[in-house]
Amino acid sequence: MSEIDLKELGVDPERLPKHIAIIMDGNGRWAKKRMMPRIFGHREGVKTVDRIVTFARKAGISALTLYSFSSENWLRPQEEVSALMGILNEYIKNELARMLREDIRFNTIGHIDHLPQTTQDLINDAKEKTRENKGLILTLALSYGSRQEILEVAKRIASLTKAGEIGEGDIDEKLFESFLDTKGLPTVDLLVRTSGEIRISNFLLWQIAYSELYFTDALWPDFKENDLVKAIIEYQNRERRFGMTTEQLENKKEN
Ligand code: IPE
Ligand code: IPE
Ligand code: MG
Repeated sequence: MSEIDLKELGVDPERLPKHIAIIMDGNGRWAKKRMMPRIFGHREGVKTVDRIVTFARKAGISALTLYSFSSENWLRPQEEVSALMGILNEYIKNELARMLREDIRFNTIGHIDHLPQTTQDLINDAKEKTRENKGLILTLALSYGSRQEILEVAKRIASLTKAGEIGEGDIDEKLFESFLDTKGLPTVDLLVRTSGEIRISNFLLWQIAYSELYFTDALWPDFKENDLVKAIIEYQNRERRFGMTTEQLENKKEN
């Protein structure tokens, strides 16, 4: 249920995207523009996360997935990586109370086991404590890489096949999806990327097969609730044909 007057914002409350995924990009450039260290931009980016999570929950979005740290981001200078882990720890500590209050379920995708132990403990604690929450599923993609995720599924299916637990005929999209980190989440309807980059950077490759893609020049620390509203309106103005023709879709609507 929405606690925001969506109609007033030009959004049709009946046709909200169920699952929005965001590639939060541009923190470093935001800081550079201000002659500040990159980490300053990451700190500012956390404020945007807060605003967008609150807005998504109030708007009645079911799932929000935020690309927070990619498998490839480990290649960044050690100093930046440690600072990012520190910010993540702080974020979870500070936000847990709010997630409990606002009925948000905390979730992650990616290689949590590659993160520092303190971070893993905080993540597991937040997941456990918010397990029953129903308002919004907030998923952080951490040490996440989509190719790696897909490869792991392939390996798992290969070993199940080898062990004789499944046959070749059992391997279909449904089975494949049940092994992805995103299992149980609704289909990604809308993917947003900030900062003007038009690429996917190894995020949710399987899951965005039929998502609507939205790119904005806004750097992540500058991205406001209103920018998400714009993305949702654009999403609602697009025709999702899933391979069919407009006429077929119109007939479907009429019947
Ligand atoms: C996104 O901002 C945050 C992470 C990848 C952790 P960047 O740090 O990539 O910012 P730019 O792209 O360098 O501006
Ligand atoms: C993608 O941003 C990863 C996250 C937002 C966490 P990057 O800044 O790492 O992507 P590239 O390197 O520009 O493709
Ligand atoms: Mg970047």
